[in-house]
Amino acid sequence: MSNKADGVHETWNSRWTFVMAATGSAVGLGNIWKFPYIAGENGGGAFVLIYLICILVLGIPIMMAEVLMGRWGRSSPVHTMYKLVDEIKAPRIWHGIGWMGVVAGVVILSYYSVIAGWAIHYLLQMASGNINGLDGAGSSEMFAEMLGSPRTLIFYHSLFMVMTMFVVIAGVTKGLGRAVRILMPLLMVLLLVLLTFSIRMGDFPAAVNYLFAVNFSSLTGQSILTALGHAFFTLSLGMGAIMVYGAYMPEHAPIGKTVLTVAGLDTLVALVAGLAIFPIVFANEAIVPSEGPGLLFVSLPIAFGNMPGGIIFGFMFFALVTMAAWSSSISLVEPAVAWFVETKKATRLQAGLAFGLICWLLGLGTVFSFGAWEDIRLLGLNFFEFADFLTANIMLPLGGMVMAIFVGWMMNTNTVRDELDIDNDRIFNAWTFVLRYISPIAILWVTLEGLSDIFGWPWLSLLNLFS
Ligand code: TRP
Repeated sequence: MSNKADGVHETWNSRWTFVMAATGSAVGLGNIWKFPYIAGENGGGAFVLIYLICILVLGIPIMMAEVLMGRWGRSSPVHTMYKLVDEIKAPRIWHGIGWMGVVAGVVILSYYSVIAGWAIHYLLQMASGNINGLDGAGSSEMFAEMLGSPRTLIFYHSLFMVMTMFVVIAGVTKGLGRAVRILMPLLMVLLLVLLTFSIRMGDFPAAVNYLFAVNFSSLTGQSILTALGHAFFTLSLGMGAIMVYGAYMPEHAPIGKTVLTVAGLDTLVALVAGLAIFPIVFANEAIVPSEGPGLLFVSLPIAFGNMPGGIIFGFMFFALVTMAAWSSSISLVEPAVAWFVETKKATRLQAGLAFGLICWLLGLGTVFSFGAWEDIRLLGLNFFEFADFLTANIMLPLGGMVMAIFVGWMMNTNTVRDELDIDNDRIFNAWTFVLRYISPIAILWVTLEGLSDIFGWPWLSLLNLFS
């Protein structure tokens, strides 16, 4: 590890803090809001299975690669890539990993913040007592009312953006590590409370059947690509967020074990959220699994409106969803802000304000795509859908793929082995094999299948090519 970069940033004070911070980044709207609704849009079981396979086979190994790059470079993804490329004299095109991450993070945060704003709005709805005795129709109406008011959406989007920038500007390692340590376990407890309610009052068997009975006939190229993209989205992978968190990780913490813990917790939260939401969906005729982005917001308030102490639980639940989104959103701009600060062209304050403003403005596109701009479409997708598709389903898997290739093929094996600190040869070789062959081929193939399916370009599909 000759030129191993020295850090200019603070480091987390223990491996556990890294686990908690990375889990804070991973566990967010992706698990509680997005996973259930895309599982519902893509027919359940088979989609869930593909998602789990993607986490296990692609997500975990690539996450290890991303942490490793970050800890080696000890700076923002942009500069980590500069240093790595320098060190091994690789072509400068590899710098693109860092740049693409900055762009992807900003675009994701722009719509992420709008959805987090929904959670804040709902938190206050709970407190107002509007949900007493709510039924399916009433709940759908409440949701539509919120979407129909750009002022409400913009207000909470702005509030959430300010909250995010506040922490980003204060510095990531300070308050964040402490906060997630308490909030994450609390969120889990509350999800379990909801789960008990759903088992008792909802149609639990239907939910289990829907999420875990695998029926491959419902699977399309597009849904496989969505599952792949979501595996990256939910682990915060492929754009440098985990790289920049890795840069703050202590020297001797074992990467493999740490990554397994984070991925395990993240998956657990998603599955429990699904199991809590779908029983309510199946018990209410006014709600269908393919409801779309509103699924969480139309299903759970029914539970809260009809259970003892529901108002308190509902309030706590949406407060925790907001917190989970908060600890995730921070990691979306951290690569951009850390890079700006390193160039010494700006302070954390200036960089935070600048990127916050950009994300806020872009977010207006998402706000209006649920109303006035609903019919402005690119490739059949409205602004929100397009931003989500482009980042989650294209940029993140692509980012992950090039990171796998970079670590697998370009970096010096001894450096990698040293940094990873795995004694077991078998495991190390298997991991290298996945990075070198499995990830690039699988990601490329899934992406081509997905695009050919979505745009009706059969010549892109390898399946069609051979049939
Ligand atoms: N993983 C978060 C979630 O599931 C979202 C997120 C945070 C993210 N940081 C990221 C997604 C970086 C992609 C890249 O809600």
